[in-house]
Amino acid sequence: MKVTVVGAGAVGATSADNIARMDICQELVLLDIKEGIAEGKAQDLMQTAALLGFETKIFGSTNDYSKTANSDVVVITSGLPRKPGMTREELIGVNAGIVKGVCENILKFSPQAIIIVISNPMDTMTYLALNSTGLPKNRIIGMGGTLDSSRFKYQLSQKLNCSPSKLNAFVIGGHGDTTMIPLIRLATQNETPVTNFLNAEEQKEIVNNTMVGGATLTKLIGTSAWYAPGAAAAALVKAIIKDEKAMHTCCVSLDGEYGQKDICLGVPVIIGKNGWEKIVDFELNEEEKLAFSESAEAVRSMNKLL
Ligand code: LAC
Repeated sequence: MKVTVVGAGAVGATSADNIARMDICQELVLLDIKEGIAEGKAQDLMQTAALLGFETKIFGSTNDYSKTANSDVVVITSGLPRKPGMTREELIGVNAGIVKGVCENILKFSPQAIIIVISNPMDTMTYLALNSTGLPKNRIIGMGGTLDSSRFKYQLSQKLNCSPSKLNAFVIGGHGDTTMIPLIRLATQNETPVTNFLNAEEQKEIVNNTMVGGATLTKLIGTSAWYAPGAAAAALVKAIIKDEKAMHTCCVSLDGEYGQKDICLGVPVIIGKNGWEKIVDFELNEEEKLAFSESAEAVRSMNKLL
C-alpha cells in the first residue's frame, strides 16, 4: 500500500507521523511546494523509525508528483491555514486554486486513488475536489466531522470526567464554527445517553465549546491546530487501508440523503477499501433536521463563490 500526503505543514507532517507509526502502508510520500521542506520532514520522521519501531518508508518530494505514482490513498492538506480571528471560509479564494491543481496532479499519477480533503473551507474544498475531478463520489472524503467528533468527545469527557475513548458521539453538518451540529441527544457513555448525566446548561456549554473548538486553538496557538487534525486524517487512512467498515462522520456528496442534494456535507458513513461505502441514516428530530438544512444553506452559499 502507498499513501501520499500533500502539504508538509504542521497538519500534513502530523498526518504522516501518525500514518507511519501505524505501519499500515509500505510507502509514504510527503510532498510540498516549498523547496526542501518535505524532504527534510520525511528524513526527520524516518529518523524516528528505529526508536518507534515502524517499517513504513517515508519519502519527501518538492512538487514532483511522479514520486506519488500509484498511491492508494492521498491526503490533501495544502493551502493556507487560519490565523487568529479568521474563519475557515475566508480562505476560499486562495485554497480553491491550490486544491484544484493538487487534485489534477495527483490523478495524473494515481488515477485510482481515494482522496481525503483537509484543506479549508473543508466542505467547499471537498465539493470542489469532487466536481473538478469527476471521480466517483465514494472516492472523495472530507475529514472535518471525524475531527469535530473527536473534539466533541473531548468536551464531553471533561464534563463527565471519563476517557474520551469511552464515548460515542458524532458531529454532523458543516465544518464551520456556526455550521457544525454536535448531536448531543445521540451521544452515549458506555451505551447510556450522556443527556442522563448532564443538565441543559452543561449540554449547551459542551455543544458551544465543540463548535468553536478549532477557533479556540487558533487563538491560543496563533495558527490552526495540527495534532487532532493529523490524527483524524490517519484514522481515515487506516479505515480505508484495513477495510475496517468503521463509522466516521465525513463530508461526502449527498444525493437526497438527509434531504440534501448537490452538496458535500458531514454525515455518518462507513469507511472501507472503496472509500466511503455507505451513508448511515440517523433518525434526526425536527430541531436537528432544521439545523442540518441551515448548515446546508450556509455551505451552499459558500460553494457558490467557487
Ligand atoms: C481545525 C482545522 C483543521 O479545525 O479546520 O483545526
